[in-house]
Order: sequence, then structure tokens, then C-alpha cells
Amino acid sequence: MPKVESAVHPSPRARVLAMKEYHPPLGDRNALRLDFNENTIACSPRVREALGQISAGALTRYPEREPVEAIAAAHLGLSPAQVALTNGVDEAIHVLFETFLGADDELLLPVPTYTMYEVYASATDARLVTVQAASNLQFPFERLAAAITPRTKIVAIASPNSPAGSTATREQIVAIARLAPHAAVFVDEAYFHFHGETVIDLVSELPNLFVARTFSKAYGLAGLRLGLLVGSAELMCWVRRVLSPYSVNSLALACLPPALEDTDYLDWYVREVIAARDEFEAALDALGFRRWPSRANFVLVEIGAQHAEFVRRMRAAGVLVRDRSSDPGCDGCVRITIGTREQMRNAATALDQIVTEMRGSGGMQ
Ligand SMILES: Cc1ncc(COP(=O)(O)O)c(C=O)c1O
Repeated sequence: MPKVESAVHPSPRARVLAMKEYHPPLGDRNALRLDFNENTIACSPRVREALGQISAGALTRYPEREPVEAIAAAHLGLSPAQVALTNGVDEAIHVLFETFLGADDELLLPVPTYTMYEVYASATDARLVTVQAASNLQFPFERLAAAITPRTKIVAIASPNSPAGSTATREQIVAIARLAPHAAVFVDEAYFHFHGETVIDLVSELPNLFVARTFSKAYGLAGLRLGLLVGSAELMCWVRRVLSPYSVNSLALACLPPALEDTDYLDWYVREVIAARDEFEAALDALGFRRWPSRANFVLVEIGAQHAEFVRRMRAAGVLVRDRSSDPGCDGCVRITIGTREQMRNAATALDQIVTEMRGSGGMQ
């Protein structure tokens, strides 16, 4: 038998070697979780009930996604051929990029935005082209339109976007889809429920439009990993070739119908968050902070040079918030998820006290 050199290892692709490691700052989160834009309470009780009814026999079988895809499609007024369930929106992004992005292609990305677009793009051989938003962090429509080239293969637009909660209008999305008919225009509607506006109905009209939704935010099912990707039947068939047939597990599939059916719970949670957002924004304004108007379940606040100390002190007070200072154009900024009114009143009390202390000691402007 030939001797195997122990120092010789298979080398990953060059693009993988160049990838940055990405570790979401999870760790001990036994506190008020205002750091990942999750639902801060719970999912619908009907979903809990469905989980309790899953039999051991059901777990022995591979998950069957088609019947549940048909339910999701009917809920959205689309045909099953236009809808694919995914392991969260993250898988939708990954699969879409794998389906379309080749070596000579460009991914066009307004920034700042959701981190995983860049992570998944960096694993492909395509070129990332970013378009920086102005200091108001509004969707940079004109500059994005001007950056479209014959090589643009995907334009990824989160609306509402993270970390500021800004949105692209329906007209702007239609214009981008028409200006780039050779590109997939991907609209990430992870925070749709808090905004209330969608372009999902346009997938039958605009063949290059894809829209994603998640069950991780308003529905409170981030731990189940459930999302969906919607597009024209002609293009979705390519995406399905790349999508793993079993990436959405049986528990997630069992929970989707009751989650969709319990509109009372969803509406209550969304109303609660929107009311809490108004109150919390007013509290930030009273303290004189710069913030950006948000249409999502979070708000971006400019804390200033002491952002890391602020995040640390909030954690010590039992409130987790997310430092977004290293996002492009977000120097000194912290993103705070919005939960219920009661939770946000507690968060505002902690924030007020910490800011008063930090300002008193000259550590904050
Ligand atoms: C814009 C955006 N898209 C997608 C996701 C992730 O969604 P999922 O949990 O369905 O993968 C997030 C999570 O923070 C997000 O902010």
C-alpha cells in the first residue's frame, strides 16, 4: 500500500480559502433577546399543539414537502410550481446563488444589508458589486439602477432591509426587474409582516422576480428553520434542481399549516410589536439619539464611539442588543429588536439608566 503523507490535505476551492469565517454572536442568550430580530415571546399555541402530536412513526419517514408546499402556495394565491419551501430564507439565498451565479457574473447588492448575502456570494465564483446607501440608509435606487451591467446576474434587495428597517417601493422593484431582465431580482421579505407591503403578487407578471419569506420572525419559529422562495414556474424548476429534497424537516412541515391558519395570533403579535416600536422610538428620541425610521421589528440607533461599552452594559442589565458598527455606513450604531410593549418598556428603562450613567461619566455624548 502506498504511504500516505500525513501533511497532505485536500485543498478547498480558492474562493472557499478566501472566505471569512462567520460566527453569529449567539452564546448565552438567557436574557431579553433584542439582538436577532426574533419573535421575543413564542409561536402560536396551535403550532405547539401540532408539535406535540408528532408520532415516533412519523419521524421514521423522510419528510414530504410537496403537500405542504401546495398549502403554502394556496395561502399565497400562487401555484405549487411557483413555491419552494426552504430551510429558512438562508437556504433560499444559498440555493438561488448556487443556481445562478457563475464565474463571469455579478451579484449586485445595496449595502448595508443582511450579512448572509455576502457570505453565500463569497463561496461562488461570481463578483460582488456593492452599492452604498447614503447616510439616511434609504434604498439607493438610482445608484443601484446605474450599477446594472450585462454581467449582473442577481440583484438582492431586502425590503424591509436590515439593519435600518428601510424599504424599497413596489415601483422601484418593478423598475429594477425591468432594467435587468437578464438578472434574477431577489426580494427578501423576511420582515414583511411588520411592513405590510409585498411584491409577491408580481411573480406571475415579472419572470425574473424571486421573493422570499420566513417563519423565523413574526411567526416565532426561528429554531425550526422554515422559509419559502417564490418565483416564476420557468425559473423555479432550476432552483429545485439545486435544492435538497429533504432540507425542510418533518417537524417544520407539520408546523407550517397551523402557523398559517392562526392569523389571530400573528396579527396580535404584529400589532403589539408596531405599538411597542412607536413607544420605543419616542423613548430614543427623548434621549436625543439619532435613529432611522423602521418598518421592521427592530430599530437602528447611533450610540457613538461607546457602542461596544453600551452593548456590554445592556447585556449586564439583562438586555441583548446587536452591535452593527462594522456594517458599511453604520459607524457607532446598535440595532435593537422590538418585542412587546412590556418588554420594550423594560428595555427603555435599562437603556435610560445606562445612558444617564455613561453621559454622567463623560463616556458618551
Ligand atoms: C433580511 C433577512 N433575511 C433573512 C434572514 C434569515 O431568515 P431565516 O431565519 O429564515 O434564514 C434574516 C435574519 O436575520 C434577515 O434579516
